[in-house]
Amino acid sequence: MGEFRFLLNGKVVTVKAPPCYTLLEVLRYVLRMTGTKEGCARGDCGECTVLLDGEPVHACLTVMTQVEGRSVTTIEGIDPQHPLVRAFVEAGAVQCGHCTPGLIISSYALLSRNPSPTEEEVREAIRGNLCRCTGYSKIVRAVLSAAGV
Ligand code: FES
Ligand code: FES
Repeated sequence: MGEFRFLLNGKVVTVKAPPCYTLLEVLRYVLRMTGTKEGCARGDCGECTVLLDGEPVHACLTVMTQVEGRSVTTIEGIDPQHPLVRAFVEAGAVQCGHCTPGLIISSYALLSRNPSPTEEEVREAIRGNLCRCTGYSKIVRAVLSAAGV
């Protein structure tokens, strides 16, 4: 067992886990935080996207030794009243919802560094987030609407 200490949604946490565990496994199976979804578990779908020191990463490809001492933000760390969350609901950009946490995290990272993105910039930012249900028009509209564009 390894012991890992890091900031999770603004609070210091210490977890014990096998050193080979990924951040996704620690979030879901050790901490029981199931907001971050598991899709492919090999870096293809983007469902597990979280922020590591503010940058979107695949939690399924991030091992715990990379997380030690750093800051992680998951969907649980995003205010449910955040304009992005409201915009996704209002635009009908959520169907089964499996892709939604990862999409919101990727979009949140985009708006943090670029508050007024173009449609192309939104599409680029969510390029790694696959959605099997909605097509992407409503998702892109939601992000632009949250940005007030
Ligand atoms: S579950 Fe991590 S990219 Fe698919
Ligand atoms: S809403 Fe179902 S995968 Fe995106």
